Amino acid sequence: MIFRLNVTRIPWVLLLLWRGAAPFTPTLTGIRRDASSILKSSSTADNSNIKDDMLNGHRQVVKTIKSILFDNLYAGTTVDRSYARFYALETIARMPYFAYTSVLHFLETTGKWRQADRLALHFAETWNELHHLLIMEELLTQSKNPTQDKIPFRDRFVAQHVAFFYFWFAVGLYLVRPDAAYSLNQAVEEEAYATYDAFLKEHEDYLKSQPAPEVAINYYNGSGQDMFDRMSKTLLIGKIDCATSSRRVECKTLYDCFVAIRDDELEHSQTMELLKQEPFELDQSG
Ligand SMILES: [Fe+2]
Ligand SMILES: [Fe+2]
Repeated sequence: MIFRLNVTRIPWVLLLLWRGAAPFTPTLTGIRRDASSILKSSSTADNSNIKDDMLNGHRQVVKTIKSILFDNLYAGTTVDRSYARFYALETIARMPYFAYTSVLHFLETTGKWRQADRLALHFAETWNELHHLLIMEELLTQSKNPTQDKIPFRDRFVAQHVAFFYFWFAVGLYLVRPDAAYSLNQAVEEEAYATYDAFLKEHEDYLKSQPAPEVAINYYNGSGQDMFDRMSKTLLIGKIDCATSSRRVECKTLYDCFVAIRDDELEHSQTMELLKQEPFELDQSG
């Protein structure tokens, strides 16, 4: 496969990421002050329009990055290439949750803000994404005990480097504009949902003929189920009820497993949509 990176699109993506994420004066304290005064003085309708525009901008960014990076490096719709693509997707997609928990720990440590429920929710989401990744590693390496060296170097190199930069970007964005950070991740999760949904439709018969990986059975139906439930059960974050569902998953075939993963991504995007409405109030105590 020839990798065709269209470098002329990179500056545009970076600009759109920043503009979609933080359309205010670029100083840290200034951004927070300007953002909160603008949001407070605007009507609800204006706020909703701003957030819709922001989400649409982020959807555009995600689609562009997908077409530049993923559609070139992970081209092909065979099951094996799809596992490689999902491995990269899951390595990268859990970075926002690492960033949220890191920033929340930082804010708590510095005495700025504490909200344990939000921290617990984001930790449960990192745990969920971790299990998506473990499933992909098992499928990609065809091994019940996958080690990093069994994952093709190119797939690992790209995924881990993108994840590294994405983590720090998400940390900065979440510190400055938590609503924008949630919006960007909502767009990522929507794309993940669509990707898994397309895969399920294309390979339904094959997936139904294969057993679910052990790691998936343990997480959804075994000893790990408690952490899965923590992501879905009723949870109040400020005034927002983040219980988007209380799903029960029966994970027997590989098809069941991918349905569960797809629905997890949908749940993540719905949670991001809810949390956007409840940005930080740094004078609030948890
Ligand atoms: Fe995932
Ligand atoms: Fe996700």
